[in-house]
Amino acid sequence: MACTCVIGLQWGDEAKGKIVDLLTDQHEIVVRYQGGPNAGHTVVFGNQTFKLSLVPSGIFRPHVQCVIANGVVVHPGVLLQEINSLRERGVEVGANLLVSDRAHVIFPWHIEEDRLLNAVFGGEAIGTTLRGIGPCYKDKAGRSLAIRLGDLYRPGLRERIERIARTKSLMLSGLNGKIDFDPESIYREYADYAEQLRPHVTDTTKFLLEAAEAGRSILFEGAQGSLLDIDHGTFPYVTSSNSSGLGVTAGSGIPAKYITKVIGVIKAYTTRVGGGPFPTELTNEIGQHIRERGNEYGTVTRRPRRCGWFDAVAVRYSARLSGVDELAVMLLDVLSELPELRICRAYEIDGVQTTDFPSHTDDLRLVQPVYDVLPGWQKEIRHVRSFDELPANAKAYLNRIRELVGRPISIISVGPDRLDTVFAPALGN
Ligand code: IMP
Repeated sequence: MACTCVIGLQWGDEAKGKIVDLLTDQHEIVVRYQGGPNAGHTVVFGNQTFKLSLVPSGIFRPHVQCVIANGVVVHPGVLLQEINSLRERGVEVGANLLVSDRAHVIFPWHIEEDRLLNAVFGGEAIGTTLRGIGPCYKDKAGRSLAIRLGDLYRPGLRERIERIARTKSLMLSGLNGKIDFDPESIYREYADYAEQLRPHVTDTTKFLLEAAEAGRSILFEGAQGSLLDIDHGTFPYVTSSNSSGLGVTAGSGIPAKYITKVIGVIKAYTTRVGGGPFPTELTNEIGQHIRERGNEYGTVTRRPRRCGWFDAVAVRYSARLSGVDELAVMLLDVLSELPELRICRAYEIDGVQTTDFPSHTDDLRLVQPVYDVLPGWQKEIRHVRSFDELPANAKAYLNRIRELVGRPISIISVGPDRLDTVFAPALGN
């Protein structure tokens, strides 16, 4: 039995979709357990590129059972759009996709609140994806104004939506003029979504517990990255779920004792979208070069991503937090043209060096990165298929990451396709 978790160790967009896709063959079940349509997972094979936000990346293998578990916040319209566009492109989506009846539902008032709060706070804003994620999780914790997928099939839904719409109109009008949600049209829209999703909606906690107890292999697909974790990330510049490895159990209903392996996914450099401190950020032409070569524009929002050097202090912290056993280093090829590379090995605060990651963003803003400078390799590496074939400087770069983070590297990605991958079981083991 193998229960493997694939977790991002930076601020999201670490190319987890590719790793999940590669590992899916070895697993019977693939589970999304946190986040929502803020995630953008890209899977490339052959000449086709697929962008997923809610459906697990395992959907491309017909034998795999995909599960959207209780910890995910679901916009049923977005989910249906995704299902339909997959079907149009010949991907089977039927009984192979289960969605938890405990998952919370994103409504128009969540999206409106996300938009209004971002506007009110201007430059101080978290810079969310504006998909209503935070407001939906907020209602989940607040309970009185929340609706779960299972509620869409219960009597009294129309009245419940009416009551919540009225309350939300009042509350949000205080933020920006007059807001008046139309409960009847929202009810009709969501009742229609519910009918279309009915074949997929079930008690996934029961399904997953039985699967784990029966020794079936499960792959957990994290969304966002550990540094965006609501409890342990760079608060308040985080997402609203436990996006580190710590979120797997509560978000799926699977006890930690069943987890056998955690793979931490990192880019060979760092990116961040939205607000918040980023010690190794490059606002110069090197950052621009990485952005263009790595196509570092948001999958969901198309926002340009902020780019910077690899931050080993941050990743060492998130690897420990997420209980990582092995690392997958992604997008190594993006660095191929640079003559010189840097890795942040420590932070300097008030003249004192530390490898501890600060718990307060005010302190993170003040740190000065202390860099190791390494020579680049300046050769294309997309064709490389074994660790030995990599240029010596690329090997040295990876070895330094492994040393500083303190975890072995098992996978190196040298291009977007499934085939552009080096499996390196010996590196650091
Ligand atoms: P939210 O999740 O939309 O509330 O956004 C909160 C923060 O998380 C913002 O800085 C977003 O840019 C960031 N974020 C959310 N989802 C992703 C993702 O999938 N990749 C990278 N950043 C993300």
